[in-house]
Amino acid sequence: MMRVMVFLVLLLLTVMIMVGNGEQNGPALLSRDDFPSNFIFGSGTSAYQVEGAAAEDGRSPSVWDTFAHAGYMQGTGDTASDEYHKYKEDVKLMKETGLDAYRFSISWSRLIPDGRGRVNPKALEYYNNLVNELLNHGIKPHVTLFHYDLPQVLEDEYEGWLSPKIVDDFTAYADVCFREFGDRVSHWTTLNEPNVLALLGYDLGFAPPKRCSHPFGNCSRGNSPTEPYIVMHHCLLAHSSAVSLYARKYKAKQQGFIGINVFVYHLIPLTNSTNDIIATRRAQDFYVGWLIEPLYRGDYPKTMRKMVGSKLPKFSRSQSEQLTGSYDFISLNYYAAMYVKDDPHDIPASQRDFRADMFAVVTAADNGLTKSDTLFPVLPSGLRGVLEYFKQSYGNPPIYIHENGFAMPQNGSLYDVRRVKYISDHLENLLIALRNGSNTLGYFTWSFIDAYELLYGYEYSYGLYYVDFGDEDRKRYPRFSARWYSSFLRGRNHTNLMNSSPNLTPFVSTT
Ligand SMILES: *[C@@H]1O[C@H](CO)[C@@H](O)[C@H](O)[C@H]1NC(C)=O
Ligand SMILES: *[C@@H]1O[C@H](CO)[C@@H](O)[C@H](O)[C@H]1NC(C)=O
Ligand SMILES: *[C@@H]1O[C@H](CO)[C@@H](O)[C@H](O)[C@H]1NC(C)=O
Ligand SMILES: *[C@@H]1O[C@H](CO)[C@@H](O)[C@H](O)[C@H]1NC(C)=O
Ligand SMILES: *[C@@H]1O[C@H](CO)[C@@H](O)[C@H](O)[C@H]1NC(C)=O
Repeated sequence: MMRVMVFLVLLLLTVMIMVGNGEQNGPALLSRDDFPSNFIFGSGTSAYQVEGAAAEDGRSPSVWDTFAHAGYMQGTGDTASDEYHKYKEDVKLMKETGLDAYRFSISWSRLIPDGRGRVNPKALEYYNNLVNELLNHGIKPHVTLFHYDLPQVLEDEYEGWLSPKIVDDFTAYADVCFREFGDRVSHWTTLNEPNVLALLGYDLGFAPPKRCSHPFGNCSRGNSPTEPYIVMHHCLLAHSSAVSLYARKYKAKQQGFIGINVFVYHLIPLTNSTNDIIATRRAQDFYVGWLIEPLYRGDYPKTMRKMVGSKLPKFSRSQSEQLTGSYDFISLNYYAAMYVKDDPHDIPASQRDFRADMFAVVTAADNGLTKSDTLFPVLPSGLRGVLEYFKQSYGNPPIYIHENGFAMPQNGSLYDVRRVKYISDHLENLLIALRNGSNTLGYFTWSFIDAYELLYGYEYSYGLYYVDFGDEDRKRYPRFSARWYSSFLRGRNHTNLMNSSPNLTPFVSTT
């Protein structure tokens, strides 16, 4: 059955790609030599998604362990890709692939199992080993401090990100990381996708800690109209507090760089009506400005102040000063484009969630874009649009694209031609943006190896390397995308690579 399905899917893909070919002028052979020589290419993962060893060596559960074990997702991260035991093998694969950098995250509840205080020596040993192994292979670590996996003890004690107490605990955790690893780690990202954390975790209840209220989602506790704003507020204060600590105590000596990550869509008006065009700007303010404007100019966007009103927390003057300019770079996760439609209504503020406050509907509505298997509308030129937006709205900051990738069924073929096409098309658009003045410094694919995915468990994955989750040893196998990325990074002639796989339809670039 599986084989028949795989065959049918391959056949369908081949037909789609061949149809695509008809519109092209010929293959574009990009290689890293087309990019600036100091441009960084990497790939990434996060702690709970690949480490496994969830109950080993003194790690305590995070809210994500709790969420997975409650059965809200297929599977758990108990073993995941077992990188905790296989990091040496993975670093070897990174070296073979030709990565300049590896983005991973530190598990707070492994390093500080009580959330604050006592540091776990086994965790220090693991992360020191990982960092040293990377450096010994000439690979730069890009470390994220928080990737959705808050220690459960802090959720239990004071409801985690809902409490201002999180600011001191996060800062103390960051202090341990800077102190212990900062002599060798030069790129720190404080928080991964706080905008998605606030919306999935506290408005819709799709992600840990699964808080929301009716009718916005089905959770046992939470308040969708108010909590996402409180969570983002504390995320911003925790971020700027950690950046300020880094600046005071470490930066001069360690010479590193620190930033924050944001999930971005390229937003397009559903129609060319004035109302949809204005709604699209509003949606950009809500999705991205919510996080970036406080860092850029010390306060939330004016549109948000107006629409969200008293539900939007205020910054004191000193908080606002600490926030302004509190980043060396912005880290972006870009996957897809979405359409925006104006949505006038008269729901009172107390009953509106984030989306209703925005007076706009953000949709994957079918307007001619190709959809990925997971129904994200794929638009490689959207990456250019996003970089142009950062250039024009936020002073063209230094940017790392820390995630970009394509989900496919995990157990599908190793010949992931569509993933290669996705990555290559995005790289082409990135190059156009760079040549037009974007200050992007690096590009990382998501993910290096298959991981336990927040939205899809083990059903869909993004890895350049397939992980056999049915095998106790979690054996890794290179996908076609790993070979392609490697050849791209080594500046090889792709035509030869494509010709070496006669069963594959050669990928052709679209612009
Ligand atoms: C809400 O969640 C509960 C517990 O997870 C589940 O039993 C129930 O079917 C859900 N209700 C709806 C409408 O989805
Ligand atoms: C809106 O206008 C742009 C530029 O003129 C055009 O490319 C696009 O197709 C239009 N969109 C719709 C939905 O009509
Ligand atoms: C290049 O940059 C300029 C100025 O920011 C902008 O107006 C233009 O649309 C950009 N061109 C492309 C192809 O992105
Ligand atoms: C993938 O295949 C393995 C066997 O190789 C099986 O154990 C696992 O459950 C499959 N995963 C999915 C998501 O179908
Ligand atoms: C790549 O190799 C093919 C033959 O395999 C050759 O025809 C082509 O000119 C080469 N392209 C470059 C850019 O070297």
